[in-house]
Amino acid sequence: MGRHATLEEELTMPTDIIVTAPLPPFLYDPLKADYRCHDYAQASDKPGLLAAQAAVIRGLVQGGGTVTPTSLLDALPALEIISVFGVGYDGVPVDYCRRRGINVTNTPDVLTDDVADVAVALIMMTGRGFVRLNRFVQAGEWLKRGPELTTKLGGRTVGILGLGRIGKAIAQRVSAMGMKVAYAGRKPQDVAYRFVPDLKALAAASDFLVVACPGGAETRNIIDAAVLAALGRKGTLVNIARGSIVDEPALVAALQAGTIKAAGLDVFADEPNIPQPLFAMDNVVLLPHVGSATRETRQAMGDLCKANLDAWFAGKPLPTLIPELG
Ligand code: 8YV
Repeated sequence: MGRHATLEEELTMPTDIIVTAPLPPFLYDPLKADYRCHDYAQASDKPGLLAAQAAVIRGLVQGGGTVTPTSLLDALPALEIISVFGVGYDGVPVDYCRRRGINVTNTPDVLTDDVADVAVALIMMTGRGFVRLNRFVQAGEWLKRGPELTTKLGGRTVGILGLGRIGKAIAQRVSAMGMKVAYAGRKPQDVAYRFVPDLKALAAASDFLVVACPGGAETRNIIDAAVLAALGRKGTLVNIARGSIVDEPALVAALQAGTIKAAGLDVFADEPNIPQPLFAMDNVVLLPHVGSATRETRQAMGDLCKANLDAWFAGKPLPTLIPELG
């Protein structure tokens, strides 16, 4: 039988954490330097990993889109904190964590500008036809005929679903472009933009309906066939939030029937799988979930993700505990 660790050894032993998503090296390497990391995401024998290590695991690191089932959390009796590498924590069962006293942290603020930039890019790419026009030039078509004319963005209305940090950053950007802003959300805010609480009414008033609210049970499929019908032939759907918020088959149907004008999508219901019909549509712009995908921002997200763990295990206040648990 091996001997037990002395108290001194126990105090200096690294804390055990479980990693449930593939992490970039600029986050994983510093984590490995300070913690005993158990790589659940890559483990071939997940039950075996849990059987051997679950009792000592005190922290969990996951990605924004990672779904953490309560069955996994049930198997981790010593878990104290989930640190999400991302702003969205719709994959975390928050009520369950509250009941068990598990802290949940995320990485807000540091990615706001980049995600807002992507929303603006999708408005421009769809509204001004830039992706199609790029293909036009690359295919040598310009040598044969002039480019299509598109629609002026200034003066058009951007309806933002979810005027949080990212929604506000989008509103600022499109206002600077001379566009009008309306928004829907839980409550009216002290802002100069028009509050249109009913989603169908917001869609009807919008040339671009931008989805910028959290994912999760409350918002699942709220952009449905009726909202898309209200958006209508003049309207473009832009989604930089979560694929789960949009009824994807209804979106495909609306695009196929031509009942909405276009779509600019950075997120999907089942990433990286995208409904096949969308590939063939030249009024659809598809991005591979790159809202926060700049080196600077991902580094800042990684730093914040680790800072939350470090703070907790050092007995210091958590930098970015999610509001529901604050
Ligand atoms: C990341 C995201 O792709 O922050 C989020 O919620 O969806 C994205 O920034 C993801 O979290 C990386 O794990």
